[in-house]
Amino acid sequence: MSTVIKRVIGDATLYLGDCLEVLPMLSGVDALITDPPYGINENSKKVASRSNTAKAKDYGVFDWDKSAPTAELIELMRSKAKWHALFGGNYFDLPATSCWLVWDKLNTGDFADCELAWTNWPKAVRRIQWRWNGMIRQGNEERFHPTQKPLAVMKWVIDLCPSAQTVLDPFMGSGTTGVAAIQMGRKFIGIERDERYFETACKRIEEAMRQVDMFTCQAQESPVTNDLFSEGVA
Ligand SMILES: C[S@@+](CC[C@H](N)C(=O)[O-])C[C@H]1O[C@@H](n2cnc3c(N)ncnc32)[C@H](O)[C@@H]1O
Repeated sequence: MSTVIKRVIGDATLYLGDCLEVLPMLSGVDALITDPPYGINENSKKVASRSNTAKAKDYGVFDWDKSAPTAELIELMRSKAKWHALFGGNYFDLPATSCWLVWDKLNTGDFADCELAWTNWPKAVRRIQWRWNGMIRQGNEERFHPTQKPLAVMKWVIDLCPSAQTVLDPFMGSGTTGVAAIQMGRKFIGIERDERYFETACKRIEEAMRQVDMFTCQAQESPVTNDLFSEGVA
């Protein structure tokens, strides 16, 4: 077993290590909300060629997108929580569902128009429009990770899952799911095996926590209900 480092930052518990090793140690999670490698060989060259500007950020060489999580790893992740939302679900072997989450990137180039998250939620398909088109990115967020998700999209996902008081992201990257969870008054558990991204995630989540502490009245926990998935799926 390789070394696993655990860091607790307020309501967030972050692990530097391979999720295959960390996941068996975890319990008490309500929702798995994650963005695993899709296995489409996204790499530094492809990202650079899309950025098309001299100011494009250099993420160094990365090769973690060569393969998607195995069926065993997906099963292990899913065994840790009742509710699941997996970006890139269209690349993985998952059961039929009524509720795909559709992030429409308002794309005008030749990139994918949408990204899909598979869920096991008893809801109908849901869609968000949030422009993310090469270098044109709504919200003007700083970029820390080559396949970073928009904060607004991750907040939208968490908001659709009101039962998720504790959110797990075993492929945390730069910690966007964690920042969203903390800003929404939820607890967060994150795992990342790349030390650079792990440190970035720690910094971003620390900053989110500081902001929440400053505005505690706005950051009260969302009401806990038995299970808010009571709507129909049609
Ligand atoms: C698609 S990225 C996540 C990006 C993230 N959503 C963000 O906004 O920054 C997937 C991340 O999973 C990490 N990863 C890949 N395999 C892993 C494993 N077995 N255990 C933990 N992390 C892993 C990669 O290093 C990469 O940062």
